[in-house]
Amino acid sequence: MKLSLFGEKFAGESGIVELMDDLGTALVDHPGMIMMGGGNPGRLPAAEEVFKRSLESVLSDPEKRHRLFGLYQSPKGDQEFRVELASYLKMEFGWQITARNIAISNGSQAAFFVLLNMFAGEMPDGNRKSIHLPLTPEYLGYADSGLSEGFFTATRPGIELLDDHLFKYHVDFSRLETGDRTGALCVSRPTNPTGNVLTDEEVAQLDAIAMERDIPFILDGAYGLPFPGIIFTEATPHWNENTVLVLSLSKLGLPGVRTGIIVAREEIINAYANANGIVNLACGNIGPAIATELFRSGDIRNLTRDHLTPFYLDRANKAVNAFRSALGDLPYRIHKPEGAFFLWLWFEGLPVSSQELYERLKRRGVLVVPGHYCFFGLEEDWPHRHECLRVSYVQDEDQVKRGIELIADEARKAYAGAV
Ligand SMILES: Cc1ncc(COP(=O)(O)O)c(C=O)c1O
Repeated sequence: MKLSLFGEKFAGESGIVELMDDLGTALVDHPGMIMMGGGNPGRLPAAEEVFKRSLESVLSDPEKRHRLFGLYQSPKGDQEFRVELASYLKMEFGWQITARNIAISNGSQAAFFVLLNMFAGEMPDGNRKSIHLPLTPEYLGYADSGLSEGFFTATRPGIELLDDHLFKYHVDFSRLETGDRTGALCVSRPTNPTGNVLTDEEVAQLDAIAMERDIPFILDGAYGLPFPGIIFTEATPHWNENTVLVLSLSKLGLPGVRTGIIVAREEIINAYANANGIVNLACGNIGPAIATELFRSGDIRNLTRDHLTPFYLDRANKAVNAFRSALGDLPYRIHKPEGAFFLWLWFEGLPVSSQELYERLKRRGVLVVPGHYCFFGLEEDWPHRHECLRVSYVQDEDQVKRGIELIADEARKAYAGAV
């Protein structure tokens, strides 16, 4: 098979494909594998019940059922959903938006592919621009989305050491350089993989920098604000005309319906929708069909506040406590869990790389994510990038406990120089 450059890049190996392959293979070949690697949300019966009721009410109405199954929506997505969501966001947060500021995607991953390539890569004047990540490590799923090489640049973070084996990354504004080659700033908040939540001040400062440079500030709220609210600290939802807020229904408990949401100024929404028409024609209707009523009634607020946030907070606390007792006095640190559903472990001075530790853990029957993948865009070789692991804690509690024991056991062996 002879592939184009596009074909070579996108049909070849990449971090996200390797991870998804491992997940898929592990599920099929090793049903006993402890899955602490993937981004699947936890299973919450209360949320499932809400989605089921909502879908049943759509299915029982012939007109709604026809809209769900039988119609292509416009490339911007289901109008009714966009209207309800816009009025919800306006009422809750005072954002000056209408349905014209909202577009739907087939999962936010697909939205990122279009948006990131809209703002970076080869420019009409022949120059190249990059997407700048003001704080690395960042979401592995962005890493291979650029159509050209050298697509991302990143700023190494400041590290605040906290008590009780915790630490927290901060944007290091003294290192942050956004020259003429930056096409947009992009952050996830809460951050996948670390569970970090950028402070309101950091967000305001990044937004001001983007505005001053006349480039968009892309804010990935897949885990956070205003929904699904998997966030354990005080943080304010953020949007303005220069912000491209990308949301998703996935972490609410609906990754299978593949619905992403873009909130941006009209010019950006129109540009995105044109590209979406070419790539997708239209988006799936099932996510909007399930969620419209949640926004109309405001029930989304109760779902997140009463169910999702407490569930994930409880799981985060349990996982941190289990790691503390399993790791004992090893020189480890955990990123302060402020949101999302991963723990980011830092094994300072680990004699083996995070990739090696990942391989060893896979052999022991636990899948995690080796942290080095998440430092894409950072040019300098920083030992820290090979000392971290991302561990999801949302699967079955006993399995997670067992996984944590195995991780601690392998880390102890690695420090002791044993294979
Ligand atoms: C930070 C972040 N952004 C975006 C996505 C993409 O999610 P989806 O395509 O399911 O909306 C994910 C998935 O795990 C994620 O972790």
